[in-house]
Amino acid sequence: MITLGEYIVKKQSEYPNATGELTSLLSSIRRAAKVVNREINRAGLVSDIIGGSFGRENAQGEVQQKLDVFANDIFKAALEARGEVCGIASEEEDDFVVFDSHTSANSKYVVLMDPLDGSSNIDVNVSIGTIFSIYRRISEPGGPVTLEDFLQPGINQIAAGYVVYGSSTMLVYTTGNGVHGFTYDPSLGSFGLSHENIRIPEQGQIYSINEGNYIKFPEGVKKYIKFCQEKDDDSKRPYTSRYIGSLVSDFHRNMLKGGIYIYPSGTSAPNGKLRLLYECNPLAFLAEQAGGKATDGFRRIMEIKPTELHQRTPYFVGSIRMVDKAGEFMTQYS
Ligand code: AHG
Ligand code: MN
Ligand code: MN
Ligand code: MN
Repeated sequence: MITLGEYIVKKQSEYPNATGELTSLLSSIRRAAKVVNREINRAGLVSDIIGGSFGRENAQGEVQQKLDVFANDIFKAALEARGEVCGIASEEEDDFVVFDSHTSANSKYVVLMDPLDGSSNIDVNVSIGTIFSIYRRISEPGGPVTLEDFLQPGINQIAAGYVVYGSSTMLVYTTGNGVHGFTYDPSLGSFGLSHENIRIPEQGQIYSINEGNYIKFPEGVKKYIKFCQEKDDDSKRPYTSRYIGSLVSDFHRNMLKGGIYIYPSGTSAPNGKLRLLYECNPLAFLAEQAGGKATDGFRRIMEIKPTELHQRTPYFVGSIRMVDKAGEFMTQYS
């Protein structure tokens, strides 16, 4: 079994000019994932310590859970512990965080993250995740870290990935050369390569959307949902509805089986709920690398130029033909 550590070193050796910085950075993420995984597994046992609300709201007005804050602190510390990263931005931080000790010319990267995705599922033993996205800083290494370093379009991503803490824990990442998945073996304490070069089926039979918000959806989404539910033997409709409420887990399932995930705009959330920088861009990079697609219903997600850190966007991601079909409905009914 090839471990994640061995795999990223092997991949690095395929690039003669690679410096090993990205390898080291991914190792930090791997280490933090193991710590968070351990705590999540203990959450049921010591629920008063790890479970429940932290008693504070984040910048987006969401009640933070203790594990949101814990995971944020662990990933932040792991990324600061080595020298590659000059700063991070996170769903759980009001502003971007500069690592003062790492503003040297060697610290070329910024990391954007959703440290704990699926907060509402923590206390009920349902799969949750971590999402990360890595960019090269735009400002001169050695100089001040700027907001512009974080407000880059998704096409600038150097690497992205997620950890899903599920019935088994997996780390899935891309550096722009396919999508690779590793399953954690707790008895060995290591991630083993289990899913090399994941390809998302061009067409799937799963649609994932919180239909409780139906009344607020744009007309194109309503019509697309009806399309998914209609009977048609040729296209194997009706499709199956699956929605966990943890984006990472919903995305992971749809990537492996084929499907579409939609979090559209609604009248009470004009840009939907999901965060462009911490959730949509990294999963868009993975989707495209696996042969899938991600849009806001009209535009390619990774070409959107962000204007603020906690920016939200409607999101359509998954199998290419399904995302295209949903896009046709959006265009037709807008
Ligand atoms: P987070 O826990 O990081 O705040 O993300 C929650 C997101 C995402 O994980 C999930 O898909 C979505 O919120 C669920 O939202 P609804 O409960 O509105 O369906
Ligand atoms: Mn949240
Ligand atoms: Mn999230
Ligand atoms: Mn989160």
